[in-house]
Amino acid sequence: MRILSGIQPSGILHIGNYFGMMRPAIALQAEGEAFYFIADYHALTSLKDPATLRENGRRVAIDFLACGLDPERAALFRQSDVPQVTELAWILSTIAPIGLLERAHSYKDKVARGMTASAGLFTYPVLMAADILIYNSDIVPVGKDQKQHIEITRDLAVKMNETFGEIFKLPEPRIHGATETVPGIDGQKMSKSYGNTIDIFGDEKEMRKRVMSIVTDSSPIEAPKDPDNSTIFQLYSLFATKEEIAVMCEAFRRGGTGYGDFKKQLFAKLWDYFEPMRKRRAEILADPRYVEGVLERGAQRANEVAEKVMARVREAVGL
Ligand code: TYM
Repeated sequence: MRILSGIQPSGILHIGNYFGMMRPAIALQAEGEAFYFIADYHALTSLKDPATLRENGRRVAIDFLACGLDPERAALFRQSDVPQVTELAWILSTIAPIGLLERAHSYKDKVARGMTASAGLFTYPVLMAADILIYNSDIVPVGKDQKQHIEITRDLAVKMNETFGEIFKLPEPRIHGATETVPGIDGQKMSKSYGNTIDIFGDEKEMRKRVMSIVTDSSPIEAPKDPDNSTIFQLYSLFATKEEIAVMCEAFRRGGTGYGDFKKQLFAKLWDYFEPMRKRRAEILADPRYVEGVLERGAQRANEVAEKVMARVREAVGL
């Protein structure tokens, strides 16, 4: 079984990325052959500063490794170290219906928020399809916001297979119900572009400040509170034990505890949860060549697979 996923180096990783994709991807690395990459070609649709793109890419690699990606099991690499994906993206774009791309929520959402509607932004899902299909991926662990992109990938794979013969496998998204959309501090989906993130490796003061600014209703301390509509409780439930979740749930319903106290509990738990990863990160940072070595080996592995699939595609389409 081949598992594949990507993450854009468009900013600093947040706990939405972690619980939505990185933690499930790390868990899956024991179950098959995993390919995880830093989607730097994709990030170019929003990021036009070369130094920042390069630095963020390196940082994503460091953070993913610190969170538990095991480079002995999973290949970690930069998308742009396998330029064959852009070749495949071109071929896919020649069969991709414009109407299918026009229906992409992510594109419409980005343009509605003021991003320039470049050709690259519009064909973003085609490049993503190439990412997935070029490694013959079976499973793609992602958050819910990427579900439609995987459906588009499947549509393009079917169209290619119908036109040129059986070339591609149809990949399946792997989306975990409980973490499919991690809320941000304002209750909307956590996203860098909404400015509502809690960063994984922010410093203590910053993380506390973000947690303490989670938006709540104005129920007084003594009032019973609804855990199911609380961002604090939703975030706590992502990683606390069953017993701890039950205790907090009961305290919400009983009343007598203010939101400030619940936020303090959430912060303490969150800070502790990421402690081993901060330690690991400090070790990785102490050896600057380590990450480059991991990325080089990952790129080699990815190139071997991508080149084989591309050879089949070129043959099938007549190039
Ligand atoms: P990106 O970089 O926006 O996000 C990386 C992963 O994190 C997940 N995620 C979330 N999950 C739950 N709750 C949230 N609040 C949240 N925020 C982010 C995303 O769903 C994603 O899984 N297009 C992709 C990158 C990509 C890719 C691929 C992914 C490029 N090629 C091929 C899979 C396969 C993206 O922009 O993810």
